[in-house]
Amino acid sequence: MASNLPLILALLSVVAIWSLFPSRVRAIGVNWGTTASQPLPPPKVVDLLKFNNISKVKLFDTDPLVLESLSGSNIYVTVGIPNSMLRSLNSSKKAADSWVHDNLTRYFSNGGSGVRIEYIAVGDEPFLQSYGAQFYPFVVGAAMNIQTALTGANLANKVRVVVPCSSDTFESESGLPSKGHFRPDINKTMIELLSFLDKHRSPFFASILPFLNYRQNKNISLNFALFKETAHPRNDSHKTYRNSFDLSYDTLVTALSTVGFPQMEIIIGQIGWPTDGAANATSSIAEIFMKGLTDHLHSKSGTPLRPRNPPIETYVFSLLDEDRRSIVTGNFERHWGVFTFDGQAKYRIDFGKGFKDLVNAQNVEYLASKWCVVNNNQDLSNATASALEACSVADCSAMSPGGSCFNISWPGNISYAFNSYYQEHSQTADSCDFGGLGLITTVDPSFANCRFSVGLQTSLSASLLGSVLLHWIVLLTATVFLCSLSPI
Ligand SMILES: *[C@@H]1O[C@H](CO)[C@@H](O)[C@H](O)[C@H]1NC(C)=O
Ligand SMILES: *[C@@H]1O[C@H](CO)[C@@H](O)[C@H](O)[C@H]1NC(C)=O
Ligand SMILES: *[C@@H]1O[C@H](CO)[C@@H](O)[C@H](O)[C@H]1NC(C)=O
Ligand SMILES: *[C@@H]1O[C@H](CO)[C@@H](O)[C@H](O)[C@H]1NC(C)=O
Ligand SMILES: *[C@@H]1O[C@H](CO)[C@@H](O)[C@H](O)[C@H]1NC(C)=O
Ligand SMILES: *[C@@H]1O[C@H](CO)[C@@H](O)[C@H](O)[C@H]1NC(C)=O
Ligand SMILES: *[C@@H]1O[C@H](CO)[C@@H](O)[C@H](O)[C@H]1NC(C)=O
Ligand SMILES: *[C@@H]1O[C@H](CO)[C@@H](O)[C@H](O)[C@H]1NC(C)=O
Ligand SMILES: *[C@@H]1O[C@H](CO)[C@@H](O)[C@H](O)[C@H]1NC(C)=O
Ligand SMILES: *[C@@H]1O[C@H](CO)[C@@H](O)[C@H](O)[C@H]1NC(C)=O
Repeated sequence: MASNLPLILALLSVVAIWSLFPSRVRAIGVNWGTTASQPLPPPKVVDLLKFNNISKVKLFDTDPLVLESLSGSNIYVTVGIPNSMLRSLNSSKKAADSWVHDNLTRYFSNGGSGVRIEYIAVGDEPFLQSYGAQFYPFVVGAAMNIQTALTGANLANKVRVVVPCSSDTFESESGLPSKGHFRPDINKTMIELLSFLDKHRSPFFASILPFLNYRQNKNISLNFALFKETAHPRNDSHKTYRNSFDLSYDTLVTALSTVGFPQMEIIIGQIGWPTDGAANATSSIAEIFMKGLTDHLHSKSGTPLRPRNPPIETYVFSLLDEDRRSIVTGNFERHWGVFTFDGQAKYRIDFGKGFKDLVNAQNVEYLASKWCVVNNNQDLSNATASALEACSVADCSAMSPGGSCFNISWPGNISYAFNSYYQEHSQTADSCDFGGLGLITTVDPSFANCRFSVGLQTSLSASLLGSVLLHWIVLLTATVFLCSLSPI
């Protein structure tokens, strides 16, 4: 009996620490990014979340409009700190205090009328290999300063500090989980990060992207990535792997164990399947992937290394398509959304209400039903150059191999480029000029799967118009005033 006392005390203290935090809700949330030319207005996005019973959302910054829209919604929120701020947050405790004061304390509440902020994500995948050493040396210092600022604001027992880690943070040369480890160049930093997270009882946020695994690794079949029962399983030291998700997850579990954190809690910060811009990036395949994923999570079977212990939270990447995302890694990057840029569901997914149709965004305000196409009555010998120029600004990713507009023939592809540019420029007349090659039409040029979109009314276009008007009024007034002064 007496010999059990230390154990009981230890257990009690763990329970006590956990009970400081609000009760954890097991849920599938979404990432809400805003790298779009015409973002859907935040209040409409929040309605979209509510209609579809999405109870958790992960943001990439702290846009006041977004946070105000989430106020009083009871949706659990992860706010983000951009990578560009890590350097100053590492070197200055004062900067961290100001960030917490301006971007957290002001909005935070435990329910009620404020924002239910659960996590602060320090950086956005700052360990991504392609970033080199741009950000990672500042991550742990920035996280510590934010943690200290949280304590100062009396919020350290309500909000936890986390760091979203990309899927290339951990790896295994043989492709087998039992050989998993952190990337050698960041191994030391990961150990510092894990010690920090462990000390503050914060979980490890990791991205798992079977779509990329399938594209990059010949050993991963499409069926294996899609949770198909018919997929060829892989054996690893007496454990059998039936899908790519479990393989990646357990590679991470081994990496954590190897550096001394076998119990570290894992949250999936990003997981998804794109629907355009690459082979096998389609809505029907994305639906199969999501069905496999949500069934797997709901079954609570866990993975071979963590049986019956699945991640308690998972954030789908992403809520909406974003036409300004970088396409360095592929044209599919702009098509991760469960919904199109204008809030229309692409497929079904089970967010906790069962596997059903999703509700689309309501009362979306579009620009007029007008499109810009190429004028066939003109000499089109130079049209390709104009189209390429349009595509260097606007989004033409659907025309890449495997994309929904890949097989529209010439000059349909010129029209697609012109229209994309025209809509992104809020249908201003001069954005359909193209040296006389453009023509505005009211007949929808969309065909087959290739959608010629109509842009959204944005508060930006309204305020831009407003500021131009104001500018003219000021100019006019000044001119009238000056003229009345000048002696003739
Ligand atoms: C992070 O900040 C600390 C404290 O100001 C400083 O000593 C350290 O050099 C900084 N790290 C980097 C990589 O600049
Ligand atoms: C608050 O966050 C915004 C956007 O993420 C950032 O631009 C701003 O500098 C932050 N405020 C402070 C005081 O750091
Ligand atoms: C692919 O599988 C083969 C045979 O199972 C194995 O030898 C090889 O290391 C694997 N490669 C990767 C990158 O997973
Ligand atoms: C990471 O660091 C730990 C502790 O120093 C060490 O045991 C391990 O071999 C390192 N792993 C890699 C991949 O460098
Ligand atoms: C994998 O292991 C299972 C039993 O766990 C066995 O039935 C199967 O033959 C093994 N497959 C391979 C390719 O070794
Ligand atoms: C996946 O893409 C490959 C290459 O384009 C294609 O051969 C295959 O049919 C696609 N599979 C599905 C299920 O669409
Ligand atoms: C909404 O989702 C939560 C879990 O995220 C679930 O408990 C609840 O029953 C769902 N509500 C409805 C109306 O389906
Ligand atoms: C096409 O471009 C060339 C070079 O800029 C120019 O000389 C030619 O007049 C253009 N043709 C038409 C039809 O605009
Ligand atoms: C190509 O266009 C035809 C109709 O002309 C359509 O049936 C087919 O699905 C399209 N293929 C792709 C890959 O979009
Ligand atoms: C349109 O298609 C033609 C013929 O296939 C091709 O030469 C041209 O580069 C394409 N233009 C764009 C902007 O995709």
